[in-house]
Amino acid sequence: MSLPIVPKIAFGGDYNPEQWPEEVWKEDHRLFDAARIDTVTLGVFDWALLQPAPDRYDFTLLDRIVERAGAEGRQICLATATGAHPAWLARAHPEVTRTDFEGRRHRYGQRHNSCPSSPVFRRLSTELARRIARRYAGNPAVVAWHVGNEYGGACYCDLCAAGFRAWLRDRYGSLDALNAAWYTTFWSHTFTDWDEIEPPSALTEHWRGPNHTAFQGITLDYLRFMSEAMLANFTDEKAAIRESSPDVPVTTNLMGMYRPIDYHRWAPHLDFASWDNYPPDDNSPAWMALTHDLMRGLKNGQPFWLMEQTPSHTASRDVNPVKRPGVMRLWSWQAVAHGADAVLFFQLRASRGACEKYHGAVIGHAGRDDTRVFREVAGLGAELDRLGGATLGARTPARVALLFDWDSWWALEISDGPSRLLRYQQIVHAYYKALWTAGVDVDVVPVTADLTDCQVVVAPALHMLKGDLAQRLAAVAERGGSVLTTFLSGRVDEDDNAFLADVPGPLGPLLGIRIDEWDARPPEVVNPVRLRDAEAGAAGGSAGEVEVESRLLFELVIPQGAEVLGTYQADFYAGTPAVTRNRHGAGHGWYVAAGLDQPGVDWVVRRVLERHDLLGPYAELPELESTVRVAPDGTRLRFLLNHGTEPIETTAYAAGTDLLGGERIEAGQPIRLGPTGVLVLREDAAGPAGRRGTGSPADREGTP
Ligand code: GLA
Ligand code: ZN
Repeated sequence: MSLPIVPKIAFGGDYNPEQWPEEVWKEDHRLFDAARIDTVTLGVFDWALLQPAPDRYDFTLLDRIVERAGAEGRQICLATATGAHPAWLARAHPEVTRTDFEGRRHRYGQRHNSCPSSPVFRRLSTELARRIARRYAGNPAVVAWHVGNEYGGACYCDLCAAGFRAWLRDRYGSLDALNAAWYTTFWSHTFTDWDEIEPPSALTEHWRGPNHTAFQGITLDYLRFMSEAMLANFTDEKAAIRESSPDVPVTTNLMGMYRPIDYHRWAPHLDFASWDNYPPDDNSPAWMALTHDLMRGLKNGQPFWLMEQTPSHTASRDVNPVKRPGVMRLWSWQAVAHGADAVLFFQLRASRGACEKYHGAVIGHAGRDDTRVFREVAGLGAELDRLGGATLGARTPARVALLFDWDSWWALEISDGPSRLLRYQQIVHAYYKALWTAGVDVDVVPVTADLTDCQVVVAPALHMLKGDLAQRLAAVAERGGSVLTTFLSGRVDEDDNAFLADVPGPLGPLLGIRIDEWDARPPEVVNPVRLRDAEAGAAGGSAGEVEVESRLLFELVIPQGAEVLGTYQADFYAGTPAVTRNRHGAGHGWYVAAGLDQPGVDWVVRRVLERHDLLGPYAELPELESTVRVAPDGTRLRFLLNHGTEPIETTAYAAGTDLLGGERIEAGQPIRLGPTGVLVLREDAAGPAGRRGTGSPADREGTP
């Protein structure tokens, strides 16, 4: 089972007509038609409506909503309504609410506040999903099931403590194994009975919040346990859906780079991935691209659904800027460029009350169709119609993989030392951004992914090394590929215990170095790094020698065969290596030992890409995003997106048809993209030799 069956990119979003009078529904659908909205997500927060009392279910209103949506020709993504539990449930069973990190048992309020281990919650949420599925499974308008909503957070109640102990018994089998994994001899923590084990919280192992723990092993396991406890909530409901709906795919809306949940462990249980794109700020195209690629990587490159994005602004931040003209369209196309086969909004019509009444919506409180936002949504709807099914099922032909690992993320950020200022997402983002500006297609994959087809593997801050990963990375280099990793890699095993070996542990032979010591400094301390690649100079490549800055962490490297490409320029380690490259088999292991600034990361990443002729055709235009999707019939679609504030003038690198404008474009022809401009080029079938790669310099000139 994979993606929902739809004839074109699904377009629409969350629709909550139960919040307003039925007279308005007709008008809603008229406006949906005007905007070519074909898909509605229904019922995400309807638990109290559908089950007003423990022994009473009432589907009258949802029946009417579903019926009307179907009659109007809408596809339905139908929720299981368990995104928030009803007040009566919390009153009758106070244990369904969560206990927080400080040990406070919450009372009824907000949403996403159900204890994942509560038997009552598990039973009733599953029962609701079962009844909804049974009732609507036969409805042909229902194309997907949407379980829960944005699973997240954590609970520290007694039920979760019991669940944790059971999970640990299962994982370790014996207390001896657990004590060894957690290194409990330290601070006299040896456990002699499973019941002595407490969830790691502000009342137990932590101080100064969730990242400061006395025992990394305990905290790490609790993160793993919580992620799996919530996964069980999802799989409970999914199993109940499957009893009556064997064929309609099931998903839940994920949150991209969301630390509390290891989406790689969830992925096998989702039929397709979907996620909600609310970027941290309004100027982060590479961040969004990284997240799209991460979400696409969950299902082995299969397309995903963009389940939510705001058409205009959010309401939950302190300051909520509106998306500038063209930005909603640009970001929607960016999602498609990275593998989305649905573009959905939160939400279609604005709520009148409560905390999201000022959240952006396709239709505002006045119900107008002549607002800027509505016009832009309708414009996008018309474009997606024009595109038809061209992208459906299309894959990204990446030869570069970036490893993303929740265990490494957790281990790095709950570590005491070397520096609390090192943030996993920022490190990963810097390397991804270098790839992104170079215009290379990237798969962001788990550490368990098959790496055999990769030419380049980038593994920033690969703190934890599990299983046979070191061997598989070495094999990439042995075959002639390049592996690039950074400071704080190869430090700990699966239990977060240090390797009893030189750093970088099992990565040593691949990288040809050992780390002797490391130095963390406050952000204002800069150590310049001089970078020089003799081979790049000799081959006529760019930037033979440059000086960049490094900050935060400086590892002191002693080469064990690796060649030195960059050296520190200051402090007692001036002149020692900061960047190295080691010949391993037919390829290389690269190591960046310091927190290089973005130009430094760009320099290293481009050296690596150049060796494999993988620089994209527009690598010299950093604001121009360029990605490729290859349709199931082999058609190549190139997406060009201008994220800058200035127009970009360049030339077409391949001949083809502009799918949005309808014009024919010849290779070498001048093209112009205004700010927020988008070009979707269906490349001609048989290209000149060499065009299948991401491009040789001749291709970039447009001269075949
Ligand atoms: C999340 C939720 C939605 C809504 C939006 C608002 O993505 O899933 O229910 O609250 O945020 O931005
Ligand atoms: Zn709990």
